[in-house]
Amino acid sequence: MTKARAENTLLNSLHNLNGKTRLQREGSNLKLSSVTMAKHQLDNRLIAEEITRELKTKIVGSNVITLEQTTSTMEIAKKLAHTSFKNGTVIFAEEQTKGRGRSDHAWSCPKYKGLLFTLLLKHNMQPDHLCLLTGTMAVSITETIRETLQLHAEIKWPNDILIGGKKVGGVLVELEKGLKKQSIFLIGIGINVNLTEEDFPRQTRLPATSLAIENKELINRISLAQALLQDIDKWYSILRNDHYRYITDRWREFCVTIGEKLTITDCGKEYTGKVIDISNNGGLMMKLENGEIKIFRGEHATIKY
Ligand code: BTN
Repeated sequence: MTKARAENTLLNSLHNLNGKTRLQREGSNLKLSSVTMAKHQLDNRLIAEEITRELKTKIVGSNVITLEQTTSTMEIAKKLAHTSFKNGTVIFAEEQTKGRGRSDHAWSCPKYKGLLFTLLLKHNMQPDHLCLLTGTMAVSITETIRETLQLHAEIKWPNDILIGGKKVGGVLVELEKGLKKQSIFLIGIGINVNLTEEDFPRQTRLPATSLAIENKELINRISLAQALLQDIDKWYSILRNDHYRYITDRWREFCVTIGEKLTITDCGKEYTGKVIDISNNGGLMMKLENGEIKIFRGEHATIKY
Protein backbone atom coordinates (compact mmCIF):
# COMPACT_ATOMS: atom_id res chain seq x y z
CA MET A 1 0.00 0.00 0.00
CA THR A 2 1.35 3.48 -0.83
CA LYS A 3 1.96 5.92 2.05
CA ALA A 4 -0.83 8.23 0.80
CA ARG A 5 -3.28 5.33 0.59
CA ALA A 6 -2.36 4.05 4.03
CA GLU A 7 -2.93 7.55 5.44
CA ASN A 8 -6.29 7.78 3.67
CA THR A 9 -7.40 4.43 5.01
CA LEU A 10 -6.38 5.47 8.50
CA LEU A 11 -8.20 8.80 8.13
CA ASN A 12 -11.38 7.03 6.95
CA SER A 13 -11.36 4.66 9.86
CA LEU A 14 -10.74 7.61 12.16
CA HIS A 15 -13.77 9.38 10.67
CA ASN A 16 -15.90 6.33 11.41
CA LEU A 17 -14.67 6.33 14.97
CA ASN A 18 -15.17 10.04 15.36
CA GLY A 19 -17.67 9.72 18.18
CA LYS A 20 -15.13 7.87 20.30
CA THR A 21 -12.21 10.21 19.82
CA ARG A 22 -12.84 12.94 22.38
CA LEU A 23 -10.17 13.66 24.97
CA GLN A 24 -10.85 12.11 28.31
CA ARG A 25 -9.68 14.18 31.23
CA GLU A 26 -9.24 12.75 34.65
CA GLY A 27 -7.89 15.08 37.32
CA SER A 28 -4.54 16.36 36.15
CA ASN A 29 -4.08 13.30 33.98
CA LEU A 30 -4.30 13.60 30.23
CA LYS A 31 -5.73 10.32 28.97
CA LEU A 32 -5.95 9.85 25.24
CA SER A 33 -7.10 6.93 23.17
CA SER A 34 -4.54 5.75 20.65
CA VAL A 35 -7.00 6.73 17.91
CA THR A 36 -7.17 10.34 19.12
CA MET A 37 -3.41 10.50 19.26
CA ALA A 38 -2.94 8.90 15.82
CA LYS A 39 -5.41 11.28 14.20
CA HIS A 40 -3.83 14.31 15.81
CA GLN A 41 -0.36 13.19 14.77
CA LEU A 42 -1.45 12.66 11.20
CA ASP A 43 -3.13 16.07 10.97
CA ASN A 44 -0.30 17.84 12.72
CA ARG A 45 2.89 16.68 11.00
CA LEU A 46 5.59 19.31 10.79
CA ILE A 47 5.62 20.41 7.15
CA ALA A 48 8.11 23.12 6.14
CA GLU A 49 5.68 24.99 3.85
CA GLU A 50 3.06 25.13 6.59
CA ILE A 51 5.51 26.42 9.17
CA THR A 52 6.83 29.15 6.86
CA ARG A 53 3.37 30.17 5.64
CA GLU A 54 2.61 33.62 7.08
CA LEU A 55 5.77 33.55 9.17
CA LYS A 56 6.72 37.18 9.74
CA THR A 57 10.37 37.02 10.70
CA LYS A 58 13.50 38.86 9.58
CA ILE A 59 16.06 36.09 10.06
CA VAL A 60 14.76 33.12 12.05
CA GLY A 61 13.07 30.58 9.77
CA SER A 62 14.43 32.13 6.53
CA ASN A 63 14.70 28.49 5.47
CA VAL A 64 12.88 25.64 7.22
CA ILE A 65 13.80 21.99 6.77
CA THR A 66 11.68 19.20 8.25
CA LEU A 67 13.04 15.69 8.68
CA GLU A 68 11.05 12.57 9.50
CA GLN A 69 13.95 11.00 11.39
CA THR A 70 17.58 11.88 12.05
CA THR A 71 20.34 11.18 14.55
CA SER A 72 20.27 14.70 15.98
CA THR A 73 19.36 18.02 14.37
CA MET A 74 22.61 19.30 15.95
CA GLU A 75 24.58 16.92 13.72
CA ILE A 76 22.72 17.98 10.57
CA ALA A 77 23.21 21.63 11.54
CA LYS A 78 26.93 21.03 12.09
CA LYS A 79 27.28 19.71 8.53
CA LEU A 80 25.17 22.54 7.12
CA ALA A 81 27.35 25.08 8.92
CA HIS A 82 30.18 24.22 6.51
CA THR A 83 28.10 25.09 3.45
CA SER A 84 26.73 28.41 2.20
CA PHE A 85 23.46 27.94 4.12
CA LYS A 86 20.93 30.73 4.61
CA ASN A 87 21.31 32.57 7.94
CA GLY A 88 18.37 31.67 10.19
CA THR A 89 17.85 28.17 8.76
CA VAL A 90 15.88 25.91 11.09
CA ILE A 91 16.00 22.12 10.98
CA PHE A 92 13.11 20.29 12.62
CA ALA A 93 13.02 16.53 13.23
CA GLU A 94 9.99 14.42 14.07
CA GLU A 95 12.28 11.87 15.68
CA GLN A 96 15.92 11.76 16.78
CA THR A 97 17.83 8.57 17.40
CA LYS A 98 20.72 10.32 19.18
CA GLY A 99 19.19 13.50 20.57
CA ARG A 100 21.41 15.19 23.11
CA GLY A 101 21.12 17.78 25.83
CA ARG A 102 23.52 19.78 27.95
CA SER A 103 26.38 18.10 29.85
CA ASP A 104 26.27 15.08 27.50
CA HIS A 105 22.83 14.01 28.65
CA ALA A 106 20.62 12.19 26.15
CA TRP A 107 17.46 13.91 24.97
CA SER A 108 14.66 11.63 23.88
CA CYS A 109 11.13 12.34 22.76
CA PRO A 110 8.59 10.05 21.07
CA LYS A 111 7.98 10.61 17.36
CA TYR A 112 5.54 13.41 16.41
CA LYS A 113 5.16 14.53 20.02
CA GLY A 114 7.79 17.21 20.48
CA LEU A 115 9.24 20.29 18.90
CA LEU A 116 12.85 19.36 18.24
CA PHE A 117 14.92 21.73 16.18
CA THR A 118 18.23 23.45 15.60
CA LEU A 119 18.52 27.05 14.46
CA LEU A 120 21.70 28.19 12.69
CA LEU A 121 22.82 31.77 13.24
CA LYS A 122 25.80 33.53 11.70
CA HIS A 123 26.66 35.77 14.58
CA ASN A 124 29.82 37.54 15.64
CA MET A 125 29.57 37.65 19.39
CA GLN A 126 32.01 38.05 22.21
CA PRO A 127 32.65 34.60 23.67
CA ASP A 128 31.46 35.71 27.13
CA HIS A 129 28.05 36.49 25.63
CA LEU A 130 27.34 32.86 24.78
CA CYS A 131 25.30 32.46 27.94
CA LEU A 132 23.27 35.48 26.92
CA LEU A 133 22.29 33.66 23.73
CA THR A 134 21.06 30.69 25.80
CA GLY A 135 19.10 33.14 27.96
CA THR A 136 17.63 34.86 24.88
CA MET A 137 16.31 31.50 23.71
CA ALA A 138 15.02 30.50 27.15
CA VAL A 139 13.20 33.84 27.40
CA SER A 140 11.61 33.31 23.97
CA ILE A 141 10.40 29.78 24.81
CA THR A 142 9.02 30.84 28.19
CA GLU A 143 7.31 33.91 26.78
CA THR A 144 5.76 31.91 23.92
CA ILE A 145 4.39 29.24 26.28
CA ARG A 146 3.00 31.91 28.62
CA GLU A 147 1.43 34.01 25.88
CA THR A 148 0.06 31.29 23.59
CA LEU A 149 -1.04 28.71 26.18
CA GLN A 150 -1.39 30.79 29.35
CA LEU A 151 0.78 28.27 31.19
CA HIS A 152 3.13 29.49 33.90
CA ALA A 153 6.47 28.50 32.34
CA GLU A 154 9.66 29.48 34.19
CA ILE A 155 13.40 29.33 33.58
CA LYS A 156 15.79 27.33 35.69
CA TRP A 157 19.12 28.98 34.91
CA PRO A 158 20.61 28.68 32.41
CA ASN A 159 18.64 26.54 29.99
CA ASP A 160 15.83 24.51 31.57
CA ILE A 161 12.21 25.46 30.96
CA LEU A 162 9.93 24.31 33.76
CA ILE A 163 6.24 24.29 34.53
CA GLY A 164 5.35 23.69 38.18
CA GLY A 165 8.94 22.60 38.85
CA LYS A 166 8.88 19.96 36.07
CA LYS A 167 11.01 20.15 32.97
CA VAL A 168 9.14 20.84 29.73
CA GLY A 169 11.99 22.00 27.50
CA GLY A 170 15.62 22.92 27.17
CA VAL A 171 18.17 24.81 25.12
CA LEU A 172 21.57 23.65 23.91
CA VAL A 173 23.91 26.17 22.27
CA GLU A 174 27.03 25.06 20.40
CA LEU A 175 29.57 27.05 18.41
CA GLU A 176 30.90 25.86 15.06
CA LYS A 177 33.44 27.46 12.75
CA GLY A 178 31.92 27.57 9.28
CA LEU A 179 33.29 28.69 5.92
CA LYS A 180 36.11 31.23 6.23
CA LYS A 181 36.16 30.48 9.96
CA GLN A 182 32.92 32.36 10.51
CA SER A 183 31.24 31.80 13.91
CA ILE A 184 28.03 29.83 13.53
CA PHE A 185 25.84 29.31 16.56
CA LEU A 186 23.84 26.08 16.57
CA ILE A 187 20.85 26.54 18.83
CA GLY A 188 19.13 23.30 19.72
CA ILE A 189 15.69 23.49 21.27
CA GLY A 190 13.65 20.58 22.58
CA ILE A 191 10.10 20.97 23.92
CA ASN A 192 7.85 18.21 25.23
CA VAL A 193 4.61 19.12 23.50
CA ASN A 194 2.10 16.29 23.16
CA LEU A 195 3.56 13.62 25.44
CA THR A 196 1.24 11.86 27.86
CA GLU A 197 2.33 10.61 31.30
CA GLU A 198 3.01 7.14 29.87
CA ASP A 199 5.58 8.63 27.49
CA PHE A 200 7.98 9.57 30.28
CA PRO A 201 10.55 7.12 31.64
CA ARG A 202 10.04 6.40 35.36
CA GLN A 203 13.30 8.01 36.40
CA THR A 204 14.46 11.26 34.93
CA ARG A 205 17.09 13.65 36.26
CA LEU A 206 14.45 16.29 36.80
CA PRO A 207 10.73 15.48 37.02
CA ALA A 208 9.33 16.10 33.54
CA THR A 209 6.04 17.16 31.99
CA SER A 210 4.60 18.20 28.63
CA LEU A 211 2.59 21.17 27.43
CA ALA A 212 -0.36 18.89 26.64
CA ILE A 213 -0.36 17.44 30.18
CA GLU A 214 -0.32 20.93 31.67
CA ASN A 215 -2.81 22.28 29.16
CA LYS A 216 -5.02 19.17 29.41
CA GLU A 217 -5.42 19.24 25.64
CA LEU A 218 -3.34 18.32 22.63
CA ILE A 219 -1.46 21.21 21.08
CA ASN A 220 -1.07 22.24 17.45
CA ARG A 221 2.69 21.94 16.98
CA ILE A 222 2.71 23.94 13.74
CA SER A 223 1.08 26.98 15.35
CA LEU A 224 3.39 26.63 18.35
CA ALA A 225 6.45 26.40 16.07
CA GLN A 226 5.37 29.55 14.20
CA ALA A 227 4.74 31.49 17.40
CA LEU A 228 8.08 30.38 18.81
CA LEU A 229 10.11 31.24 15.69
CA GLN A 230 8.50 34.66 15.67
CA ASP A 231 9.32 35.26 19.31
CA ILE A 232 12.90 34.05 18.87
CA ASP A 233 13.26 36.43 15.90
CA LYS A 234 12.04 39.33 18.05
CA TRP A 235 14.41 38.58 20.96
CA TYR A 236 17.31 37.80 18.64
CA SER A 237 16.95 41.23 17.05
CA ILE A 238 17.09 42.75 20.55
CA LEU A 239 20.32 40.81 21.16
CA ARG A 240 21.77 41.85 17.78
CA ASN A 241 21.09 45.47 18.63
CA ASP A 242 23.04 45.02 21.89
CA HIS A 243 20.05 45.75 24.13
CA TYR A 244 21.22 43.14 26.63
CA ARG A 245 19.43 44.83 29.49
CA TYR A 246 15.99 44.02 28.03
CA ILE A 247 16.97 40.35 27.86
CA THR A 248 18.38 40.09 31.36
CA ASP A 249 15.38 41.98 32.78
CA ARG A 250 12.93 39.53 31.18
CA TRP A 251 15.16 36.59 32.16
CA ARG A 252 15.11 37.72 35.81
CA GLU A 253 11.34 38.02 35.66
CA PHE A 254 11.01 34.37 34.44
CA CYS A 255 13.86 32.87 36.49
CA VAL A 256 13.00 30.56 39.42
CA THR A 257 16.64 30.20 40.42
CA ILE A 258 17.04 33.69 41.90
CA GLY A 259 16.77 33.52 45.70
CA GLU A 260 17.47 29.77 45.82
CA LYS A 261 20.18 28.24 47.95
CA LEU A 262 22.06 25.71 45.85
CA THR A 263 25.28 23.96 44.97
CA ILE A 264 26.87 24.55 41.62
CA THR A 265 29.65 22.61 39.91
CA ASP A 266 32.07 24.76 37.96
CA CYS A 267 35.17 23.30 36.24
CA GLY A 268 35.08 20.31 38.61
CA LYS A 269 34.73 22.39 41.81
CA GLU A 270 31.61 22.69 43.96
CA TYR A 271 30.28 25.98 45.36
CA THR A 272 27.32 26.43 47.71
CA GLY A 273 25.51 29.68 48.24
CA LYS A 274 22.46 31.79 47.55
CA VAL A 275 21.63 33.02 44.05
CA ILE A 276 21.28 36.78 44.13
CA ASP A 277 20.96 37.81 40.49
CA ILE A 278 21.66 37.23 36.81
CA SER A 279 24.65 39.29 35.69
CA ASN A 280 24.59 41.65 32.69
CA ASN A 281 26.01 38.99 30.41
CA GLY A 282 23.77 36.16 31.63
CA GLY A 283 25.94 34.64 34.36
CA LEU A 284 24.53 33.39 37.66
CA MET A 285 25.54 35.68 40.52
CA MET A 286 25.87 33.89 43.85
CA LYS A 287 26.73 34.88 47.39
CA LEU A 288 28.85 31.98 48.61
CA GLU A 289 28.87 30.66 52.18
CA ASN A 290 32.12 32.56 52.86
CA GLY A 291 30.46 35.83 51.82
CA GLU A 292 32.26 36.03 48.47
CA ILE A 293 30.18 37.10 45.43
CA LYS A 294 30.92 34.91 42.40
CA ILE A 295 29.51 34.89 38.88
CA PHE A 296 29.17 31.53 37.13
CA ARG A 297 29.02 31.22 33.37
CA GLY A 298 26.48 28.87 31.83
CA GLU A 299 28.96 27.13 29.52
CA HIS A 300 30.93 25.73 32.46
CA ALA A 301 28.58 25.60 35.41
CA THR A 302 25.84 23.09 36.25
CA ILE A 303 23.45 23.23 39.15
CA LYS A 304 23.56 20.09 41.33
CA TYR A 305 20.22 18.35 41.76
C1 BTN B 1 18.84 20.35 27.58
O1 BTN B 1 17.85 20.63 28.25
O2 BTN B 1 19.81 19.78 28.09
C2 BTN B 1 18.88 20.77 26.13
C3 BTN B 1 18.01 19.87 25.29
C4 BTN B 1 18.12 20.18 23.82
C5 BTN B 1 17.44 19.15 22.99
C6 BTN B 1 17.33 19.57 21.56
S1 BTN B 1 16.21 18.59 20.64
C7 BTN B 1 16.72 19.32 19.16
C8 BTN B 1 18.23 19.46 19.24
N1 BTN B 1 18.87 18.22 18.83
C9 BTN B 1 19.49 17.62 19.82
O3 BTN B 1 20.10 16.55 19.74
N2 BTN B 1 19.37 18.34 20.95
C10 BTN B 1 18.61 19.55 20.74
